[in-house]
Amino acid sequence: MPNTPHEPSGRVWDPLVRLTHWIIALAVILNGFIIDDDALAHIWIGYIALGMLALRLLWGLIGTESARFSSFPVSFSGAATHVSELKQGVHRKHRSHNPLGALMVYALWATLTVVSVTGVMMESDLFPEDDHEYSSRIEAHDDEAAEWLEDLHEGAANLLLLLSVLHVGGVVLESRLSGRNLVQAMITGRRS
Ligand code: HEM
Ligand code: HEM
Repeated sequence: MPNTPHEPSGRVWDPLVRLTHWIIALAVILNGFIIDDDALAHIWIGYIALGMLALRLLWGLIGTESARFSSFPVSFSGAATHVSELKQGVHRKHRSHNPLGALMVYALWATLTVVSVTGVMMESDLFPEDDHEYSSRIEAHDDEAAEWLEDLHEGAANLLLLLSVLHVGGVVLESRLSGRNLVQAMITGRRS
């Protein structure tokens, strides 16, 4: 039987979606758990994550059908329906992320945006971190802003790591309940 957009067996995730997903996942794991945040590698990996995020968000506007934002809109009622369907053992097929997964995807992207943008701002000359001997009120003010940015970066990074763990848990649970291997689809691009 030929595949139509509403019959989501066959191709689902195009190469750009898969590439950006796995590079972002690797970057978040490396920067969040493995690499020392003082290391230069942290900055480079962070820039790569930001670049991949920008590319993926652009692809959400002009990409293949299942990659487009319009294929997985924000819908709290849709997410609630999805949960009750899962409880009843009903497994509806979705052409892109399911409505609950979609909420998580937007939360991950929003948090990653805050983490990377605050990281880039910390690295810019706009918010230099001085030693604590201020020669002017402006320097003292700059230093406060720099500390505020660092706190925001750290807080958002911790939230991102928490969401990532929940995301992987959700993927595993959804795969088990629905009997469809979501991880395999994100690797090969094809749904079984
Ligand atoms: C993949 C996204 C990223 C994650 C998960 C991440 C995570 C973290 C974490 C957990 C810290 C430690 C915070 C603390 O304990 O004070 C940190 C610090 C830092 N991050 Fe990131 N980060 C990311 C992206 C970036 C980017 C894009 C930049 C800059 C271009 C950046 C620059 C920094 C800097 C300058 C520090 C402070 C290092 C220090 O002096 O202690 N990060 N980051
Ligand atoms: C740890 C950092 C991770 C982050 C920040 C992350 C983030 C994301 C994002 C933003 C999406 C949406 C993809 C898109 O539409 O472009 C996604 C989807 C997905 N991720 Fe992750 N991910 C992470 C790790 C993982 C891991 C380790 C796995 C595998 C166990 C995984 C499996 C998946 C799958 C299967 C999907 C598609 C879900 C569906 O079918 O709707 N992710 N992830």
